[in-house]
Amino acid sequence: MNFKEQILQGIPNELPAPKEYSLNVNHAPKRKEILTEDEKRLALRNALRYFPKKWHKDLAAEFKKELNDYGRIYMYRFKPDYKMYARDIKEYPAKSLQAAAIMMMIQNNLDPAVAQHPEELITYGGNGAVFQNWAQYLITMKYLATMTDEQTLNMYSGHPMGLFPSSKDAPRVVVTNGMMIPNYSKPDDWERFNAMGVTQYGQMTAGSFMYIGPQGIVHGTTITVMNAFRKILKKDETPKGKIFLTAGLGGMSGAQPKAGNIVGCITVCAEVNPKAANKRFEQGWVDELINDMDKLVTRVKKAQKNDETVSIAFIGNVVDVWERFDKDDIYVHVGSDQTSLHIPWTGGYYPVDISYDQANKLIKDNPKLFKEKVQATLRRHAASINSHSAKGTYFFDYGNAFLLEASRAGADVMSNNGIDFKYPSYVQDILGPMCFDYGFGPFRWVCASGKPEDLDATDNIAAEVMQEIMENSPAEIQLQMQDNITWIKNAKKNKMVVGSQARILYADAEGRAKIAEAFNKAIAKGDIGPVVLGRDHHDVSGTDSPYRETSNIYDGSKFTADMAIQNVIGDSFRGATWVSIHNGGGVGWGEVINGGFGMVLDGTPEADVRLKRMLFYDVNNGIARRSWARNKGAMFAIKREMERSPNLIITVPNIVDDEIINSEF
Ligand SMILES: NC(=O)c1ccc[n+]([C@@H]2O[C@H](COP(=O)([O-])OP(=O)(O)OC[C@H]3O[C@@H](n4cnc5c(N)ncnc54)[C@H](O)[C@@H]3O)[C@@H](O)[C@H]2O)c1
Repeated sequence: MNFKEQILQGIPNELPAPKEYSLNVNHAPKRKEILTEDEKRLALRNALRYFPKKWHKDLAAEFKKELNDYGRIYMYRFKPDYKMYARDIKEYPAKSLQAAAIMMMIQNNLDPAVAQHPEELITYGGNGAVFQNWAQYLITMKYLATMTDEQTLNMYSGHPMGLFPSSKDAPRVVVTNGMMIPNYSKPDDWERFNAMGVTQYGQMTAGSFMYIGPQGIVHGTTITVMNAFRKILKKDETPKGKIFLTAGLGGMSGAQPKAGNIVGCITVCAEVNPKAANKRFEQGWVDELINDMDKLVTRVKKAQKNDETVSIAFIGNVVDVWERFDKDDIYVHVGSDQTSLHIPWTGGYYPVDISYDQANKLIKDNPKLFKEKVQATLRRHAASINSHSAKGTYFFDYGNAFLLEASRAGADVMSNNGIDFKYPSYVQDILGPMCFDYGFGPFRWVCASGKPEDLDATDNIAAEVMQEIMENSPAEIQLQMQDNITWIKNAKKNKMVVGSQARILYADAEGRAKIAEAFNKAIAKGDIGPVVLGRDHHDVSGTDSPYRETSNIYDGSKFTADMAIQNVIGDSFRGATWVSIHNGGGVGWGEVINGGFGMVLDGTPEADVRLKRMLFYDVNNGIARRSWARNKGAMFAIKREMERSPNLIITVPNIVDDEIINSEF
């Protein structure tokens, strides 16, 4: 059977042969044993409902073994044999171009060059799932291949519930991931209900098919690290020869050394998993690999002396690096961390003083002891950072729940008021006030032809549009415009494409809509093929996350999730091709609600209407909320938008004088 026939078949007619558990792939760790005997029966019954009765006996034994061995039923046997990658959109069997684009995006998220644990259908972040099992993948692809533009596919946490009649203007797919009754949203609830096969952790762009490899985060990390250095350096100083110390070379964290090189500093990035470190080294995302601490110290001192720009991966635990640099008085200018602390007990964060393999064994054999070791490590980690910061290091939390988990472990990270952390989150200090409040966020696009020439053409179009907008921009956003123009002009040179031909560019509502409009015109002329637009959920609007995206909301509403829900509903009737809303993503299950969209541009006048309607709303809904929270930049941005868009009428806050409030207490 060729590729198209296999897709159209869905669940195969013949039971495929069992698959060997491949040893050269990065597999998800065994998940926690959490189900009772009765719940295991339920998990099995749930898994078998995807298959005809005649296979149940064989599959029951196999799935039971998967559940015992891995803590989940992935249905490895059903993983298709064809190569998994984003093909040219024309290669997909489809009645709907929009649906074909979604198939391409799904395959990109599962491409072994892109995905963290491809056989477990995990794209990034340790547990960011596209599907829970291979049956869901097969059925979804078949639905997409056969659906028309008058149907909508409903996806419940990876499960394709089915195709419903809708209309051309409706989204082709509506995705929900991990949506729980709020009282059932503790980390163990994810373990339990995911093991039962009824929910999944979609992260942000994993379960919404919008991941574009670590490039997506390189841009945000570049902006963050560049501005972190700007905060502490004198006007005439550059980051050259100055250290940025951090950890993690996984799905997203792998972007850090690349961003460090673009910023021009010395990046030291510790990674305990040699496979992850090697993968990033082979992909050219980090310059040097070192696994000996003495060698690291010698190399770093040399780099400091020679004012180098270089990125170094240290294979080992980051706590050892912080402590050794402290002991040897190696001055760290900027520090952060990007281990997966949103899942600290299942391999997101590795304890110091035991090997990587021993730690993985402990997760299975003695989870209680593993947890104790993680918490002890966090206390040591924080103590060493405190010691560095007393010498002048600027440390920021990079949205991985480091400070949250460190505080829960009893580490010394709270400020004197006992409410706030000692260190800022990158959104509070940098991204929030400088970017999100003005509407700048991680807009992105994918060239569905798969041709690098199309990506080059879109880069040029975007640069021209941004340049033109910048000429009439107010002073408040000139720096952001300039940083983003520099970014897009160097994007090709920085070789960031892994997987689909994709690009990320921080842009505001005006920039996003004008760039998209110009793309649609180029498609209509036949200069480029169709383009898929989207964004990270980590944006101005899509996400309510009190410790990250909305950590710079100070009116008490950061613990509400109305904005994320409003956004996804609003996008879906304004022209999105698909929408998604997730519980969990970045900071952890139960800690965030985040949503996003995908939009296919095909060069038609209808696409032009959709992009203008939806992109405007998608960004301005978030600015309106940020403005209502009294954020100065957002108040400026929404008033400016109202002046040029008469149909936009937003409630703006009146600012009360502090004396009036204080006089009442
Ligand atoms: N700020 C942002 O914009 C942003 C974006 C995406 C992800 N995140 C968050 O960042 C974290 C990392 O994401 P990811 O996709 O890279 O996850 P990941 O699991 O792919 O990578 C984390 C890496 O950290 C390594 N690690 C764990 N403990 C370590 C230790 N003590 N010392 C050295 N290395 C250690 C792991 O081996 C792993 O490779 C997640 O919590 C994620 O939610 C933040």
